[in-house]
Amino acid sequence: MTAPWWRDAVVYQVYPRSFADANGDGMGDLKGITSRLDHLEKLGVDAIWLSPFFTSPQNDGGYDVADYCDVDPRFGTLADFDEMLARAKERNIRVIIDLVPNHSSSAHPLFQKALAAAPGSPEREMYMFREGKGENGELPPNNWQSIFHGDAWTRVKEADGSDGQWYLHLFDTSQPDWNWENPKVREMFRGILRFWLDRGVAGMRIDVAHGMVKEEGLPDTEVNTKGLVALDSDKLPPYFDQDGVHEIYRDWRKIINEYPGDRVLVAECCAPRHRMPLYIRPDELHQAFNFSFLLARWDKTLLHDAIEKPMALSREVEGSNTWVLSNHDVIRHATRYGYAPDYKFGEGLSRDEPAPDRELGLRRARAVSLTMLSLPGSAYLYQGEELGLEEVADIPDELREDPAHKRGGVPGRDGCRVPMAWQHDAPAYGFSETGKSWLPQPASYGERAADKQVDVPGSTFEMYRAAIRLRRELKLGEQELTWIESGDEALAFRLGETAVVLNLSEQPLDLATLGLGGMRELLVSYPDEHAAGMLPANCAAWLTPAG
Ligand code: GLC
Repeated sequence: MTAPWWRDAVVYQVYPRSFADANGDGMGDLKGITSRLDHLEKLGVDAIWLSPFFTSPQNDGGYDVADYCDVDPRFGTLADFDEMLARAKERNIRVIIDLVPNHSSSAHPLFQKALAAAPGSPEREMYMFREGKGENGELPPNNWQSIFHGDAWTRVKEADGSDGQWYLHLFDTSQPDWNWENPKVREMFRGILRFWLDRGVAGMRIDVAHGMVKEEGLPDTEVNTKGLVALDSDKLPPYFDQDGVHEIYRDWRKIINEYPGDRVLVAECCAPRHRMPLYIRPDELHQAFNFSFLLARWDKTLLHDAIEKPMALSREVEGSNTWVLSNHDVIRHATRYGYAPDYKFGEGLSRDEPAPDRELGLRRARAVSLTMLSLPGSAYLYQGEELGLEEVADIPDELREDPAHKRGGVPGRDGCRVPMAWQHDAPAYGFSETGKSWLPQPASYGERAADKQVDVPGSTFEMYRAAIRLRRELKLGEQELTWIESGDEALAFRLGETAVVLNLSEQPLDLATLGLGGMRELLVSYPDEHAAGMLPANCAAWLTPAG
């Protein structure tokens, strides 16, 4: 029996608002995605994962869903979705969608019904309504804070105009949490799963997969998590990583197993590392994002541990590994690696921070990306990283849309969501024919536009493309990794006959010192001139036995 495709796939994340705009309104859409499938085919990815394109007021870039089974008019129609799916299929590209089960939009008809209904009614039971504390219920039911800053509770007005109950929103006020203790919520989501599986999607990425179930009694928390990714803390708040979520996943696994063709469920899961394997037990989800690689800075021990520890854990449950360096929630890695390894990032990058070393950032990002693309398991890429696109710090506050910015005053995540650069000399760099773009693109996006890189030897795009092709040919994603002793400033391992070396130092590395002198270079992350047997500074290489 051959292993399911997703175990060693390369999956490309499309953020629909920012990928390609076919109707010229400055916001990407499904027709835009269809029009750019050639790019993805050339790159060689196995699948795309689409961030939400469902009906939504767009208060959190679509992670505030008002209708789970329809397309937002800004992005197109269900027919456009079917068309995109069909065109992708012709190119052997599967499509994974994003399921947002922790919360809906406050514009969801069921939330509107809940607001209009009385306390204690079945309508209110769909969400997390509670009485407030204090003499007149004027205080929130507990001390939970929103991930996007501020209280996680908002008080409503009852039908008679009086101050009433409070509802829980772990994220923005406009993202009320569903009540997963209510069987009706569970039944509704089963239907949503089937709706998209019937349409032919290859699976789902589960948003906030560590949320949904809250500790009984909603006790006060001693820890409040700010920002999205908290990994190594052993203490999580009573609204994350509760054992009850696993029951939901076992239920969903049964549904997905009814469908042919190895569909996949992948969790966005921010549980403590040792709890991750629970999510990917054989009767639960197939994969969970391993964010430790994304969090690792330019440091031998950190990168080593970010590879070794999750691999050891997933082995416990015979699960597969996942690797990711960038997504729509974090500072792009071409920028992260342009800062010193001890630079402290906040939530997003502000205009007032020192500028990164752009050249070094790209060099190091390419080196880590090339390392990632060799690793056993599957790699998740974020649109634009194949071009080396950078985080954009220079966005006027009034154009920023991230609710974390609006609620917490932090720069937030808009800087990694700036629309793609396709053509260096076209309006909006080819994102939209009208030149409109919902966020301004910097001049550096022109320098790194796709048309300057596709079929251009030595470009970042061509490095990714060659890596994805070779990875498949050499079946790297299926190999066992064994470490090579390599000192403090290099990372080296074998995957079958192939050796991978990442030189973290500022000096060229003589491969003979690692016992790899006789090997031939297959791929190197940066196109410097260099002597045979030497790996330039801040570079990675894939090596194969000579002869
Ligand atoms: C996830 C998404 C993020 C979103 C949040 C709330 O973490 O990746 O973009 O804001 O969930 O849905």
